[in-house]
Amino acid sequence: MLSTGPELRLLRLLSCVTLVLLFQVTDAKRDLKSACTTCQQITDNFSKGFDRTAKQNFGGGNTAWEERKLSKYETSEIRLMEIVEGLCESSSFECNRMVEEHEEHFETWWFKRKTKHPDLHKWFCIETIKVCCPKGTFGPDCNACVGSSERPCHGNGMCDGDRTRGGNGKCSCNHGYEGESCLDCIDGYFNEVRNDTFSLCTECHSSCKTCTGATNQDCDECKEGWEEDEQEACVDVNECSTESSPCKEDQYCVNTEGSYSCKACDRVCSGCTGAGPDKCQACASGYQDAEGTCTDIDECSQSESVCTKEHQECVNNKGSYVCICSSGYEEQEDECVQMMQPEQAEESEASETTTSPHGEL
Ligand SMILES: *[C@@H]1O[C@H](CO)[C@@H](O)[C@H](O)[C@H]1NC(C)=O
Ligand SMILES: *[C@@H]1O[C@H](CO)[C@@H](O)[C@H](O)[C@H]1NC(C)=O
Repeated sequence: MLSTGPELRLLRLLSCVTLVLLFQVTDAKRDLKSACTTCQQITDNFSKGFDRTAKQNFGGGNTAWEERKLSKYETSEIRLMEIVEGLCESSSFECNRMVEEHEEHFETWWFKRKTKHPDLHKWFCIETIKVCCPKGTFGPDCNACVGSSERPCHGNGMCDGDRTRGGNGKCSCNHGYEGESCLDCIDGYFNEVRNDTFSLCTECHSSCKTCTGATNQDCDECKEGWEEDEQEACVDVNECSTESSPCKEDQYCVNTEGSYSCKACDRVCSGCTGAGPDKCQACASGYQDAEGTCTDIDECSQSESVCTKEHQECVNNKGSYVCICSSGYEEQEDECVQMMQPEQAEESEASETTTSPHGEL
């Protein structure tokens, strides 16, 4: 039988609970990492504050009295308070909470531990409040990262949670490397040096997809656009040498390493083998071959005139020609008619008024 109503509801409730739990777990992990970051900032700011206050309360004189006053200030509660006050930006909730929660630890360190444990980050963040781990270690118990704590991820990646009480210690490898411990090379890279703890991956020759060495003879497989020659080396495929060009009709083909490109023919060509008016396969209309170069045809100087109407003139242009009316004539309804001179225009107007007084304006 299929699930009934109440069973389904229970199932949904359970999956909700699981989701909430999952979120809490990932949240907590992120919190552990950020808690260490906050602690690191606090101890960094502590050293800054320590340096800043070193110059304070020093009048510039060097009397014995001033010396004494200074050495007293150096280890004083007042100086500690001045440093602690400057640890957090007032807007940083996390920082202020951490400092407030652990204020007594700063006092303990300042008065009792400073000499024996001069590294505040180590004493406070790692050993006392336990939000950070030593370099190369991660997680609640500060376990060593993959590889070793000296060389996390064998020096070829970053260990998740490194130096914090969070993370899972997994490696995210640098470019060129892969695998759980970042000893393997990605496609396009090969192991130049490799043993159980050390790996150096180097990029293959540009003709290889995969390889075992640096030259084009060390390819396992050629990259697209390259092919194996008789010596089993990967060499460029000349896409332009094939009988049918991979380019469009009004383009010519240019071979490149591993590929090719198509470029537009000169406008005087109808098809071409290269750039310029002398590389045409045929001339475009309006052009003719003159000693191997396509040149404009002057339609106007041909024996048979092309502009046939009365008072028309021919004007040549690149690839064609136009017919225009001669000067003093203008085109009206496809004919070239004489333009009226200003006085002629007045005259005809005057005659019009006399002949048809009721004509429209
Ligand atoms: C504390 O450190 C943080 C990060 O390094 C910085 O942005 C902030 O300005 C510092 N606060 C003070 C008061 O120096
Ligand atoms: C691995 O190779 C590195 C670099 O060549 C070398 O320093 C290291 O001693 C080698 N380790 C082993 C276990 O052979």
